[in-house]
Amino acid sequence: MEKIVVEGGKRLEGEIVVSGAKNAVLPLMAACILSEGKNIITNVPDLADVRTMAKLLQILGADVEYDSGTLTIDSSGLNNWEAPYDLVKTMRASVLVLGPLTARFGKARVSLPGGCAIGERPIDQHLKGLSILGSKIQIEEGYVETSAPRLTGGIIPFDVSTVTGTENLILSSVLAEGETVLLNAACEPEVTDLVTALNKMGADITGIGTDIITIRGVKKLSPLTDYEVMPDRIEAGTYMIASVLTKGDLMIRNCRFENMGALIGKLIEIGAHITRENGGIRVKSNGEIKSTDITTLPYPGFPTDMQAQMMTLMSTSDGLSVLTETIFPQRFLHAGELRRMGADIKLVGNSAVVRGVKHLSGAPTMASDLRASASLVLAGLAAVGRTEISRVYHLDRGYDKLDSKLETLGASIWREKE
Ligand code: EPZ
Repeated sequence: MEKIVVEGGKRLEGEIVVSGAKNAVLPLMAACILSEGKNIITNVPDLADVRTMAKLLQILGADVEYDSGTLTIDSSGLNNWEAPYDLVKTMRASVLVLGPLTARFGKARVSLPGGCAIGERPIDQHLKGLSILGSKIQIEEGYVETSAPRLTGGIIPFDVSTVTGTENLILSSVLAEGETVLLNAACEPEVTDLVTALNKMGADITGIGTDIITIRGVKKLSPLTDYEVMPDRIEAGTYMIASVLTKGDLMIRNCRFENMGALIGKLIEIGAHITRENGGIRVKSNGEIKSTDITTLPYPGFPTDMQAQMMTLMSTSDGLSVLTETIFPQRFLHAGELRRMGADIKLVGNSAVVRGVKHLSGAPTMASDLRASASLVLAGLAAVGRTEISRVYHLDRGYDKLDSKLETLGASIWREKE
């Protein structure tokens, strides 16, 4: 296993290109189950989760190749509709194959994802939608089994806004008989990316970017040809916070200002200088970090995937901040590690009360989940002294070479064997 070592206090300066979005490419890969032929997806980040999804598609019978950012998925040979536990347990997003397998084969057997470090991750809404589309649902031995000779359209009201729930039901209904309407659908940009790609494959989906999505079933879909994955707004946001923490001046290329309103608004509020300059976003800071409160909400509200990084930023603010987590109420495992670096954080229910301290101090820490590991890397950049972050495989699930990218910007950061 590897650990990341950071010598704090270095100012970040320069230009960085954001990679393709993990949470956009995973549903796009699942969508390839619906077409028989060779799908080509570009701007694909080199991530552990992408390799896991590729392995799952290979187990299902697809041919998958990845070569410097381009993913080729030939799904014509698909002959298996079972996603095994030992793979699903490593990545919850595997549940995204449930809908497309049911649509293609009329049945699927997918291991229930179980919980994870950020909280209990039910899929009741996914299953509710599939049964409304006419699928029989059975749960046994930790697997969910669907069977539906033909899925037929229906109206699906989501009780909660669920990103992969919305994506799973879109993937389930594109080939169904008749029309499907999703009510209270998630409108994250990654959902929009999936709908755009499916329409390119011949699907008939309207309501893009809204919470009411209508899918008119079509007979078949043609393969995705040359579809470019959208940039990762969470990776971009992580660099923005890195710039503020190090009194830096970063030009972040290939990210979409319009997808990042909630975070950009908060960073301006705490004193960052943010401008749009020839296709990129520039983030400068004179070191001022005013305290502020955030509440995580479904898009376009403040993203839960930026909460841990924001907690690091607020740890050295000029006052008291309250971070309230409404999506995953237990998503605070990073708080304990930040406290070991000198942060003053109290957890009260689904909120974290953060009192700014003068500076963080480097320490040996342990990553618990993807975004928590990013928050510890950020803390290491700002801390006085040396920070070590173990279990860095969590980071590699969702960031494409974050440490080497930060090094090109001036950070003193490297990897060592644990
Ligand atoms: C997606 O997870 C993302 N993952 C997560 O990113 C992200 O944090 C989350 O959306 C929220 O934005 C991918 O897209 C692969 P949800 P997802 O279903 O779809 C409850 C990262 O770090 N819920 O939107 O699993 C659920 O418990 C990861 O990149 C139900 O109750 O999240 C949660 O409270 C972490 N029943 C809320 O909805 C269901 O059937 C939102 O969860 C489904 C969800």
